[in-house]
Amino acid sequence: MTDQKRNRQLLLAQRPEGMPTEETFAYREVPVPEPGEGQVLVQTIYLSVDPYMRGRMSDQKSYVEPYQLNEVISGGIIGKVVESKSDRFHVGDKVVGMMGWQHYNAVDASEVRKVDDLIAPLSAYLSVLGMTGLTAYFGLLDIGQPKKGETVVVSGAAGAVGMVVGQIAKIQGARVVGIAGSDEKMDFLERELGFDRAINYKTADNLQKALEQACPDGVDVYFDNVGGPISDAVMNLLNDYARIPLCGAISSYNRTDGDLGPRVQTKLLKSRALIKAFIVGDYAHRFSEGIRDLAQWLSEGRLQYQETIVEGFENVPQAFFGLFKGENLGKQLVKISEPGE
Ligand SMILES: NC(=O)c1ccc[n+]([C@@H]2O[C@H](COP(=O)([O-])OP(=O)(O)OC[C@H]3O[C@@H](n4cnc5c(N)ncnc54)[C@H](OP(=O)(O)O)[C@@H]3O)[C@@H](O)[C@H]2O)c1
Repeated sequence: MTDQKRNRQLLLAQRPEGMPTEETFAYREVPVPEPGEGQVLVQTIYLSVDPYMRGRMSDQKSYVEPYQLNEVISGGIIGKVVESKSDRFHVGDKVVGMMGWQHYNAVDASEVRKVDDLIAPLSAYLSVLGMTGLTAYFGLLDIGQPKKGETVVVSGAAGAVGMVVGQIAKIQGARVVGIAGSDEKMDFLERELGFDRAINYKTADNLQKALEQACPDGVDVYFDNVGGPISDAVMNLLNDYARIPLCGAISSYNRTDGDLGPRVQTKLLKSRALIKAFIVGDYAHRFSEGIRDLAQWLSEGRLQYQETIVEGFENVPQAFFGLFKGENLGKQLVKISEPGE
């Protein structure tokens, strides 16, 4: 059925210095792969672009292997099974997994998981019920451990991870302050998601003062998505025994100058704060617990989610660049084909 079709792929053409550009990527067309025994052929429906991918475009040692030059980039994908040589999947099943940025992937059945679009729309399995929702859930609840009445600050607050963090903190009874990069995002956080305060770090005359006003009782939990000067300012307001889940540092991902900032040791010592970096994969053995609670809160209307969906494979690079320019509200996804096509 697929032999007439070509498989379009997106490769890493160059390792970027600083901000990635169109030259970072290259397209290639190859024949659609034939699934082997025990494999399925998956047609891509949604593809996830994520800030961590910037790290994989460099060849520095990290918690995950770098992408290889002239090879297909990979990431989270939702697709449908169009051919199956596994008794675990039927044609038409919708699946999620780590797959290549291409229209068709032939993968072992064990590498994908079936998803049910009756429980939530397909795209949610790459957002609130996927990697970013789980990152928010485990980072906040396991490391941040917010208590009723405490102040939780989250940076990158209007992004995929950040907006789930703030809402879970509200569910735990905390007071929530979000930091984001536009007035529209501030409005969304305060009006739609019930954040107590939002700060626009791009327009605040004095971010430190704005934070002090927004956090009159100091900061008990700082969920750090961005690093850099925003985190420097929050670190000055830590209460005794504050907890800092260190999730990401997007402000430094494209920097080439080493990103030196104020030293944090004294601030941590004075407040006896805990700072702990984590990777969502550390919690893989508990994912079903996280998905259960997130799905429950969704069904009760206590948790909302937002996605920015760009259409078309040719727009994947732009969608990726947009993460570093703040173009997304909630999870950035790219729609590659219709679920029913
Ligand atoms: N530890 C883990 O396992 C894990 C898993 C997922 C994600 N992460 C990390 O969590 C963070 C958020 O990821 P996400 O997937 O939810 O992305 P996201 O927040 O949906 O998108 C990135 C957002 O970062 C903000 N941003 C970009 N450049 C910035 C800068 N220089 N300073 C401050 N903010 C900036 C932009 O929003 P504004 O308009 O507000 O600037 C942009 O919308 C990233 O650092 C990511 O690497 C970690």
